[in-house]
Amino acid sequence: MATADQLKSLIRSHFSQETERFYTIALQVAAHEARQGHSALAHDIKTMVDSERKKGGPRILTFPQDLRGLVLTEEPEASRVSLVIPQLLQDRINRIIHEYRKKEKLKSFGLKHRRKILLIGPPGTGKTMTAQVLAKELHLSLHTIQMDRLVTKFMGETSAKLRQIFDLMPQEHGVYLFDEFDAIGGERSLDNDVGEMRRVLNAFLQFIEQDTSDSLIVAATNNPKLLDHALLRRFDDILYYDKPEEDERKQLIANILGTFKQKDFSWKTVIEESEGLSHSEIDQACRDAIKNAILSDQENVSASELLFPIRNRQEARKGFINK
Ligand SMILES: Nc1ncnc2c1ncn2[C@@H]1O[C@H](COP(=O)(O)OP(=O)(O)OP(=O)(O)O)[C@@H](O)[C@H]1O
Ligand SMILES: [Mg+2]
Repeated sequence: MATADQLKSLIRSHFSQETERFYTIALQVAAHEARQGHSALAHDIKTMVDSERKKGGPRILTFPQDLRGLVLTEEPEASRVSLVIPQLLQDRINRIIHEYRKKEKLKSFGLKHRRKILLIGPPGTGKTMTAQVLAKELHLSLHTIQMDRLVTKFMGETSAKLRQIFDLMPQEHGVYLFDEFDAIGGERSLDNDVGEMRRVLNAFLQFIEQDTSDSLIVAATNNPKLLDHALLRRFDDILYYDKPEEDERKQLIANILGTFKQKDFSWKTVIEESEGLSHSEIDQACRDAIKNAILSDQENVSASELLFPIRNRQEARKGFINK
């Protein structure tokens, strides 16, 4: 049998998601068993580890322990067709995807694909979703860095932590989303320590300029006023998001309701009353309507049934604004 230490290490590495360490310990167990003369068991363990490794298995996390809670890694499923945005914005995203796919060709001419992208716009309009779509389309992992949390947790050491993340980019290839970017992007004071934020911003500008990896760097903010001009210059693309116009609201609702949409759905009032809501709020209203239909054993959602959750969202928005 495996030793007590090996068992404890296996369990620990499982809970801390250290996949590579988990494999190593499993192989140590196999070696231990082989020495005891249990060669069939040793062989089985080794085969299991080899086949998981070949599949790619769960991702091997190389982020240092202290960054784990601040860098969230995922393999998103958001598809390009479900992202409802104006055509011009869509074209620019397509261009980023296209250049990435042709990066070797560009490289052979001494050019770099566009890969430093700033997303600006109100909450719930698709900034995070865009980073998810980029990752999905390019078969990359999405690493989200919550800037406001990074700054708060590592006050005084934020630049060093950012450097750690930038140092990982060439090895841990992926889409890096610096979310709530205005936490460092402006002259906003945090604990009145503007000096610290200035230093962090300067460090970030330096890192982004020095970075030559192929990873995509996406920064997202809903507060453009706080962003500094020196910073805007560093990005290859700046994409502006906004609340959905009429035709986008219609497309979004049709996409989400899907087969739940009643055949003779009357759009007019729904389109009018959803004005001012974000994509995310409309998405939630549609899902509420679908849930109501399911719970009352109805097969579809009519326009008037969708108006209830839409009005609720409008009320919630007004309440929030008037506070
Ligand atoms: N343009 C869009 N097209 C389709 N669905 C959208 C769009 N924008 C938002 N959604 C829906 O709302 C959810 C939240 O949106 P997302 O997280 O992308 O907003 P955000 O712009 O990053 O907001 P925040 O500024 O609050 O971070 C998405 O997961 C998606 O379901
Ligand atoms: Mg977001």
